[in-house]
Amino acid sequence: MLPPGAGCPSQHNHAIAVSSAWQPARRTICALSAACLYLSAYSFSLVSTALRTMDSAPTQRPRKLRPTDVLKHEHRQIEERLQVLSSALKSLGNQGRDAEILDRIEEVAQYIDREMAAHHRKEEEGLFPLLARYLDEDLHLDGRIADHQDLKIMSGKFKQTLEDCRSTDDHFAAQMLRGYGLYIVHLVLEHLLKEDEILFLVADRYLSDEEETEILRRFSEIDATAS
Ligand SMILES: [Fe+2]
Ligand SMILES: [Fe+2]
Repeated sequence: MLPPGAGCPSQHNHAIAVSSAWQPARRTICALSAACLYLSAYSFSLVSTALRTMDSAPTQRPRKLRPTDVLKHEHRQIEERLQVLSSALKSLGNQGRDAEILDRIEEVAQYIDREMAAHHRKEEEGLFPLLARYLDEDLHLDGRIADHQDLKIMSGKFKQTLEDCRSTDDHFAAQMLRGYGLYIVHLVLEHLLKEDEILFLVADRYLSDEEETEILRRFSEIDATAS
């Protein structure tokens, strides 16, 4: 009689007692059993991999464009422009009024008037009215619209001061231009954060496919009229 598992190449804990005369046959059976187990595990691994592939397949297909994809992309573009403005304002502080620096600032001022104004229209005429159906008061949409209006007012003062900077040697005008510019950078960055981290999350969670399609249609109309 052999103890359980004795002689098994796979160290299986066989509870069957066999005589030493059966040992070679037992080894063969056990080796086959181990091979079967290995093949079974390998097959299972293949099936698991196939299932995982099937599970992940839908995410590899092109995802439907959502209104927040468009707006987030525009936010990243706005951030790039704000970096240009911050850098130009720093140069203005260090070097004073210089035509090249004022040109860079004017480019951003024009961007605020055109592209950012179109972006705000997409939010106010496209996203916000449909988003207001959900959690309107909690989302403080009126606060975000107030930010847009605040930026419009500050942008007007910014451009007027930029003209003053070009037409006079008044050091005070350069200081005011820098002050308005820094205010704009701060205002817009904070505004983008609130939209990215709150409004857009709610939009992605609540808006239906039909509502998103309608918002994208409104975006296209705004793009067509803005260009
Ligand atoms: Fe906004
Ligand atoms: Fe925005």
